[in-house]
Amino acid sequence: MGNKFVMIGGGSTQSPGILEVLRKRASELNLTELVLYDIDGERVSLLGKYTEMYYEETGSSVKVSYTTDIDEALQGADFLFMQIRPGLNKQRGIDEKICIRNGLVGQETCGLGGFSFAMRVIPAVLEIIKKVKEICPNAWILNYTNPEAVLSEAIYREFPEAKVLCICDMPISIEGAIADYFNKDLRDLTFKYFGMNHFGWWTNVIDEQGHDLLPQLREDVVSGKIDTLLQSNEETKEDQYWIDTYRQMIRLFKRFPEYFPNCYLQYYLTPDEMLAHDDPNFTRGDYVMQGREKRIYDECRRVIQAGTAKDSSLHAGVHGNYIVDIAYAIIHNTRERFTVNMKNNGAISNFDSEAVIEVPAYVGSMGAETINVGTIPTFQKGLMEMQKAYEKMTVDAALTGSYQTALEAVMLNKTVPNYSIGKKVLDELYEANKEYWPLLK
Ligand code: G6P
Ligand code: MN
Repeated sequence: MGNKFVMIGGGSTQSPGILEVLRKRASELNLTELVLYDIDGERVSLLGKYTEMYYEETGSSVKVSYTTDIDEALQGADFLFMQIRPGLNKQRGIDEKICIRNGLVGQETCGLGGFSFAMRVIPAVLEIIKKVKEICPNAWILNYTNPEAVLSEAIYREFPEAKVLCICDMPISIEGAIADYFNKDLRDLTFKYFGMNHFGWWTNVIDEQGHDLLPQLREDVVSGKIDTLLQSNEETKEDQYWIDTYRQMIRLFKRFPEYFPNCYLQYYLTPDEMLAHDDPNFTRGDYVMQGREKRIYDECRRVIQAGTAKDSSLHAGVHGNYIVDIAYAIIHNTRERFTVNMKNNGAISNFDSEAVIEVPAYVGSMGAETINVGTIPTFQKGLMEMQKAYEKMTVDAALTGSYQTALEAVMLNKTVPNYSIGKKVLDELYEANKEYWPLLK
């Protein structure tokens, strides 16, 4: 029998980049049935109808359908790709603006933008996993939903035995850029990395001969030979946000040359420099709504109207390849190395063993087995400990609805300078998210 894949949040703008990879690699995944599920009927029917036509007209034999009924979607499912966003990019934009107007970074996964998103998403994701346990307990969930760091902490706490892998395409994207810099094939390099999602560092980049390339990269950065890395990701190459982000990542490495930073550390180590770029009247959320969202749904409408997808095509995304590579590794038990978010369980020996961390792991049909990191230095450990405390208390706040816990979580976030700003932004975010957050008391 073939495999049934379900996209939870199938109406998302991240779906097309995954749908194209699934179409191309359907036979190696033994994929016979694909369901797009979403609570947003309009979006899922646009992307669903488009995908039905596109798959059929390109000769795919995969049976495609779409639904807003989760029970129906989950029946007999083998793989769930999850990427949901309660409140959509509209709510993302509202959070960004509240933060930025109060002098805080407004990013949707870091700082208080991430806190707010976590409060919206944790209850929704836990509900879905509960359903999965009832309806298709053997299915694997590959989760891309943000803010992945806080969310993975909630998932593994509530469902320690669940077949869930929480992943992010940022490590592989940055590794792709490093590989390109050295003119190497990504697959020939072995990367050593540790941290938490959107909060980690590379310690080594090992080539085919066993040489570490990181010292060379460090020298090229510190000596001023390079001030950015070219992105390997076709979709974001022209996007000014990502151009700036890759330059800032190199600036961070120059200032803290011990290890190579995940680009999201820019929000914690240089929030002032991030804010200097930010325009509270036009944030990333606005940019995505007016760009990617409009482009994708307009194209679906055009194709549906024309009655053919013949002159339309999807682009295989980095995130699409990554999630499908992981599904392939599980199906075929390849035990390949991927960076995933898992309980530490001793992988970092001087860090909380119960905490979820982001590290390389071997992935096969039993899931992921993390690779040992050993001890980490005081600087990174100190940053991680405070961030982890923030993540844990954010999960506590979402699960208990305690206002005091929410306030303490906020105060643990490195982007928050003092009580009055922390409380003010928390209260404004709560007011703007009443429809989505748990009731706080
Ligand atoms: C990267 C991150 C994702 C994030 C995305 C933001 O891929 O790893 O976690 O969702 O960037 O993209 P956007 O275009 O929505 O700002
Ligand atoms: Mn990510």
